[in-house]
Amino acid sequence: MIVARSIGELDLPRNGIVGLVPTMGALHAGHTALFEAARPDCDVLVASVFVNPAQFSELTDLSAYPRDLDHDVSFAAEHGVDVVFAPPPGEMYPDGFATWVEPGGAAEGLESADRPGHFRGVATVCLKLFNLVRPQIAWFGRKDAQQVAVVKQLVRDLNVPVEIKVVETARDHDGLAFSSRNGRLTTAERELARAIPRALETRDPVAARSVLEAAGLAPDYVEVADLDGPTLLVAARIGSTRLIDNVPLPKGARS
Ligand code: PAF
Repeated sequence: MIVARSIGELDLPRNGIVGLVPTMGALHAGHTALFEAARPDCDVLVASVFVNPAQFSELTDLSAYPRDLDHDVSFAAEHGVDVVFAPPPGEMYPDGFATWVEPGGAAEGLESADRPGHFRGVATVCLKLFNLVRPQIAWFGRKDAQQVAVVKQLVRDLNVPVEIKVVETARDHDGLAFSSRNGRLTTAERELARAIPRALETRDPVAARSVLEAAGLAPDYVEVADLDGPTLLVAARIGSTRLIDNVPLPKGARS
C-alpha cells in the first residue's frame, strides 16, 4: 500500500476505476463498511485521511479530534485500501488561501444551525479532494445524510465528474451508529446515547423527541427532511460530545 503524505506524492496509477473514500481518520467499523462497499467497484482504492480544520466551528472540537496516522494506515491496509492520502493542513490551505465553495440548498438548516460554516468547509475540502485524486466514484456514509445531500448537490451544480455512492449506516451491537466521536463517551454517556437509535426506531419526530427527553437528552433537533427521500434526523449532545444519526422513512412520509 502507498502512503502519500503530500500532494506531490500523490502519483496514482490511472488504469481502470479510481475510487475515493474521504475520511478524517480515526478509522473504525463505519469506515470498514465504506471500504467493503468500494473495494469491488474499483481498481485503485484511495482513502484520504485529513482532519479538515475548515469544517470545525469550535477550536476545542478540532483539537480534541483523534489523530493516529499509523493506526489509520494499518487499518486501511487491512481493509483493502491501495493508497492513503494524508496531506498536511498547510498544503490543503496554504497561506493566502481565499477561495471557498458556499453551498446553499441542502446545506441550509439542521447541522448548519449549530455549526455555521461547517458545510462550506466540507464542500470546499471535498472539491479539493476530488480535484486532487480525480476519482470516478466516491463513497459517503448515510449517517451524515445532510453531508451526502450537500456533496451530491456540489457535484451536480459544479459538474464535477464523480459518481457519489452512499453506504448504509453501520451500527454497533447496541444500535449506536459508529462514529469517531463515540470513543469520547464515558460508560454512563454511552448508555444514554443508546436513546438515539431507540428514538429513530419510532420513525416519528414527536415520538422520537419524547424518547430522547425521557432519557434526559435535550436534542439540538429532531426533524424530518427530504434528503434523498424523507429522513428522520436527530442531533443531541451527551456531555461534551455531539452525536448525529438518522433513518430513512418510507416514501410519502411528511417532512
Ligand atoms: O465525513 C467526513 O469524515 C468528512 O466530513 C469528510 C467527508 C471526510 C470531509 O472532511
